Amino acid sequence: MKRNITFFLLCISVMILSGFSNKTDFKMIKPHFQKDSIKVKVDSLLNLMTLEEKVGQMNQYNGFWDVTGPSPEGGDAEKKYEDLRKGRVGSMLTVRGADQVRAVQKIVVEESRLGIPLIIGFDVIHGYKTLSPIPLAEAASWDLEAIEKSASVAAAEAAASGINWTFAPMVDISRDPRWGRVMEGAGEDPFLGSAIAKARVRGFQGEDLSAINTIAATAKHFAAYGFAEGGKEYNKADIGTVTLHNIVLPSFKAAEEAGVKTFMNGFNELNGIPVTGNEFLLRDILKQKWDFNGFVISDWASIGEMVTHGYARDNAQAAEIAVKAGVDMDMESSSYVDELVELVKAGEVEEALVDDAVRRILRVKFELGLFDDPYKYCDAERESVVIGSEENQKAVLDMAKKSIVLLKNENNLLPLKKEGQKIAIIGPLADDDNSVLGSWRIASEDHSGISVLEGMKQYTGNEIVYEKGADLLKKDPTFINELEFNFNDKTGFEKAISAAKNSDVVILVLGEHGFQSGEGRSRTNLDLPGVQQELMEKVFGVNKNVVLVLNNGRPLILNWADENIPAIVEAWHLGTQTGNAVAQVLYGDYNPSGKLPMTFPRSVGQIPIYYNHKNTGRPVDPQPGANMVFWSHYSDEENSPLYPFGHGLSYTSFNYSNIKVENSFAVNEEVKVSVELSNTGDYDGKEVVQLYIRDLFAKVVRPVKELKGFQLVELKKGESKTVNFSLTEKELGYYDQNGDYLVEPGDFEIFVGGDSDATLKSAFKLTK
Ligand code: BGC
Repeated sequence: MKRNITFFLLCISVMILSGFSNKTDFKMIKPHFQKDSIKVKVDSLLNLMTLEEKVGQMNQYNGFWDVTGPSPEGGDAEKKYEDLRKGRVGSMLTVRGADQVRAVQKIVVEESRLGIPLIIGFDVIHGYKTLSPIPLAEAASWDLEAIEKSASVAAAEAAASGINWTFAPMVDISRDPRWGRVMEGAGEDPFLGSAIAKARVRGFQGEDLSAINTIAATAKHFAAYGFAEGGKEYNKADIGTVTLHNIVLPSFKAAEEAGVKTFMNGFNELNGIPVTGNEFLLRDILKQKWDFNGFVISDWASIGEMVTHGYARDNAQAAEIAVKAGVDMDMESSSYVDELVELVKAGEVEEALVDDAVRRILRVKFELGLFDDPYKYCDAERESVVIGSEENQKAVLDMAKKSIVLLKNENNLLPLKKEGQKIAIIGPLADDDNSVLGSWRIASEDHSGISVLEGMKQYTGNEIVYEKGADLLKKDPTFINELEFNFNDKTGFEKAISAAKNSDVVILVLGEHGFQSGEGRSRTNLDLPGVQQELMEKVFGVNKNVVLVLNNGRPLILNWADENIPAIVEAWHLGTQTGNAVAQVLYGDYNPSGKLPMTFPRSVGQIPIYYNHKNTGRPVDPQPGANMVFWSHYSDEENSPLYPFGHGLSYTSFNYSNIKVENSFAVNEEVKVSVELSNTGDYDGKEVVQLYIRDLFAKVVRPVKELKGFQLVELKKGESKTVNFSLTEKELGYYDQNGDYLVEPGDFEIFVGGDSDATLKSAFKLTK
């Protein structure tokens, strides 16, 4: 039997070899391939590979040079070209465009010995060229279908441009808005974060990974990067195992369950061990406990950075630690390509570890269909049709509207009347068609967004005047440049104030520039940057009818605005269609339904602040009014946030009543909950109905509230509906310190409402 299998593999190997030596004729071997499982193909190919070629598959280079033209000054392009030819490269990132990708692919396919195609990675984070809202904004929609659609549009555009692998979704949960990358995730909650992680993976990968409009996804950054101490970028994370298992890991597990093909580790260390070298995370949890069969890529140079962390002596030891820990591909630190062969030859690293990594990488390449046709993603004609299509613009506009959160609307200042009003549009971001794109938009053209001013001008029934008022930055920033803030220039104030004085309504567009959040953009001060606060106060001084439209990538401190400004609209960085989305919401052509995926604090000192906190032993003031000190609070700030997780208003109003649940259930029974929702206002609208539980006592202390269900419910004005939820063991249990999942009998409370402050409550008992 064994001899038969060996003979069979040998035949396959010969077929493969003939296929690969005839570099242009992949089709010739395809019929044989199709009969065999990917595992057999992978093993057969592995049999043909030298150790050097195997290690080559584990190496990823950045395509920073123009691959069809001369190499840039100071780059090591020649070495990289040489490595491509020698089969010392398995993947490239940030090469883009059908022709450019074809050019690199051609080098490996035609010039390297085995012609194994490259997998081409790219940060397709919230769109490729046609941009959706930043991921945090999309999360505010709580609309899984729309989020999935948005990812599929991004995938289709990228796949038409030569790319077959995205470094997204970022599924890092974070409770710290000082950290600039909160814009890239789904916010603070593991339940919402897990649902969104799944939707994004489904959107990118689709049903069929080998289709020409789907790409492999990456769950990143494994793990706990979102817990960077002090919100400072790249900082260490020190968290206990209960937080790790219950808050950090669930969204990664969800991505894995959705079939994500790759994981990326983070830059951070976790409890003293860089996650790039963390065997516990990568081997024990990811590859063993979760049985993940895709591959793990390092973050940019994070293998080499283990030396700087003080965890590895040199690059060679860093490579050894990383491969043993379970990192399969090295992004840009060259540690594997430079060191691994020697490490194996010296007996420091078992070749079996290399084989395992290469098998995982090859499997994904086979699944993408790259062996059937390495140029399948390189169709310039398709590229020109798909990118920026009307259909894609429509999809990102839809997503943008759904992402907007109405934070406040006093006296029904919104929606605006469509005619007969004089409107002043003021603010440094009002006419900005670049900032709206956010910071993750490598493939899209600068200034390709629609500014709020442009969007508003399409409604012609009102007279519009525009004044910038102030600048936010000294010059247009770029992805890698430091920002140069403009803190002092108030020369535009006078004109802005006069425009405000002579208008019926002022739309103030303030916030952060798109490049003020994102990687490397941590902040200690979360006020409106620069002179914007002063501008807002001066404008409000002459006209109280102010609508504040916020553009930002993270929760900001908005106490003054909340106390004074009658209407506040959270419009994040909404991507290409920003202006159209904002205008449709301000004019009431779309009734906003977004809900915050992250708590907005009252002050930076409250951070980390999140709704699913613990009770502590002293949660309340024992004698309100007596100024008692011995309870869990700040003496100079309230405990509550400015806007809780889940908060968001509508132009209509909703009433919750009649919550129903039986008294008791056995652990394995379905807990059914129902609630009555009524639209009590003057508009048709949509509400995100949220269900929270509290496990009153347990072997490990549980949070005061945990989101365990949500539903988007559309109601016509005056309409009511019964909304049903069901909870199972999946929602009612938790992980203990060892990562074991427990469902304990006991008493639970249930809350249903329109935000995490929901007070409509019931209770049930879970019995053995
Ligand atoms: C980021 C990753 C990203 C990678 C490649 C790193 O700096 O942390 O999220 O995918 O660069 O661009």
